[in-house]
Amino acid sequence: MRRSLKTKLFLSILLLTSIILGLVWFFNVKYLGSYYIERKKDNLVSYSNHIKNIYKGDTRKIYDELERIENLIGGNITIVASNGEIEYPISYRPQYGRMGRGFIPISKEDLKEILSGGTVIKIFKHPKFDIRILSVVTPLSSDKILIIQSSVASIEEGIDIIKDYYIYIAIISLIIGIILTFILTKIITEPILRLNKVARKMANLDFSHKYNVVSTDEIGQLGESLNYLSEKLSFTIDELNKANKKLREDIEKERRLDKMRKEFISNVSHELKTPIALIKGYAEGLKDNVIDDIESKNFYCEVIMDEAEKMSKLVKDLLDLSQLESGHYSLNKEKFNICNLVDKVLNKYSPIFKEKNINVSIKKDDDKMYVNGDRVRLEQVLVNLINNALNHIGAERVLEVAIRRLSNNAIISIYNSGNFIPEDEIDRIWESFYKVDKSRARKYGGTGLGLSIVKNILKLHNSNYGVRNVKNGVEFWFELELISIDNKNY
Ligand SMILES: Nc1ncnc2c1ncn2[C@@H]1O[C@H](COP(=O)(O)OP(=O)(O)O)[C@@H](O)[C@H]1O
Ligand SMILES: [Mg+2]
Repeated sequence: MRRSLKTKLFLSILLLTSIILGLVWFFNVKYLGSYYIERKKDNLVSYSNHIKNIYKGDTRKIYDELERIENLIGGNITIVASNGEIEYPISYRPQYGRMGRGFIPISKEDLKEILSGGTVIKIFKHPKFDIRILSVVTPLSSDKILIIQSSVASIEEGIDIIKDYYIYIAIISLIIGIILTFILTKIITEPILRLNKVARKMANLDFSHKYNVVSTDEIGQLGESLNYLSEKLSFTIDELNKANKKLREDIEKERRLDKMRKEFISNVSHELKTPIALIKGYAEGLKDNVIDDIESKNFYCEVIMDEAEKMSKLVKDLLDLSQLESGHYSLNKEKFNICNLVDKVLNKYSPIFKEKNINVSIKKDDDKMYVNGDRVRLEQVLVNLINNALNHIGAERVLEVAIRRLSNNAIISIYNSGNFIPEDEIDRIWESFYKVDKSRARKYGGTGLGLSIVKNILKLHNSNYGVRNVKNGVEFWFELELISIDNKNY
């Protein structure tokens, strides 16, 4: 059976108390009587010595003292002269023929001993009553004998009283003992129970509970150690968890990177496959002389040059993108008027607009909107977006560029008439190599990297950007934070 510490302690202390009480009881019953009689004997002897000391030959002079002593010891004193006359007590009347209280059955040897100055101490049974009497008999002077007697019955009665009394004391002590033991075990076990509770929580990796140290004893110290252990463990497990989380994140990142690399390689190979096959086919055609006329030859050469140009553009875009995505590309920032940059790009395109019969318009809230950015990279953004607009412009042939001021930002938007981008694909067009219509992209030489480059440049500028399908077309937009300029010409 498993007993709790509390029960064990309680029973131990109770047992100890009972043993002590039992021992006291045992010694009382067994030895208290004889010890008491011994003491009484000593007492009587010392009184007899006292009487011998004060006796100066005349018994009458010590009557009072003798009476006092009789009352003190609860016994009686007898003084007998050698002629048999009883000198004390004075009320003794031998003529009534009664056995006097001074009677003592002394043996001859005892008498010899007394007459030679010795003292006889004896317990004898009263010849008439069933009473035991303790007597001390000693010579008072050369012709007188002193007898001091005390009933042993009174002694035994005293012992019986003590024994009765002891039972009450034992019962009361036991009750008080049980209560004290109860309190004591509670005081001792309570902190241990609290320690145990904390330790159990710790075992379940719950370190939020602390032991409240109230004492400086061993248990208090144990509590402190437990708290320290808990803190250490909690810290270490936290660190471990953090390290573990980081490790998992790293693995996840590595996995994603690996996936991206694989996708990238497959995308690049895919992009290169068509131009390489075309170049190979047309070059072989040229070499094998399957064609004789110069026109066809020119056509073959043009295809080869065209495909080589596409490959070159792809490689340039890839290099750009890898630079921008490297994570340590730093922009070459300067303060300039974004309106001027937009005008400049549109000017460059004006022959193309004319040639393609495009209906261009530009709307500006203001002519001077200064931003802090990389002029070359932002030009690249504009060029990419305008190129895309031209590639998807549709039959209406409308292109609208706008620069709006919205609180502290310039919002540059480029709208082209044309087909919507399907809503379920609109978020993916910013991914590398993503094209909504692949065969169409191939016709205008698209690699699917343009918007990815745009996205990276704008992210480096901390700019918001986006695309939405609007009335009869598509609008791309991006924000640039405006800066205040004190009449300076940038
Ligand atoms: N102005 C636009 N109108 C409609 N679709 C567009 C427009 N701009 C981009 N897209 C779609 O987004 C895709 C990705 O664009 P981009 O990254 O520039 O690649 P690319 O121009 O080489 O095809 C395009 O293939 C096209 O499907
Ligand atoms: Mg493009």
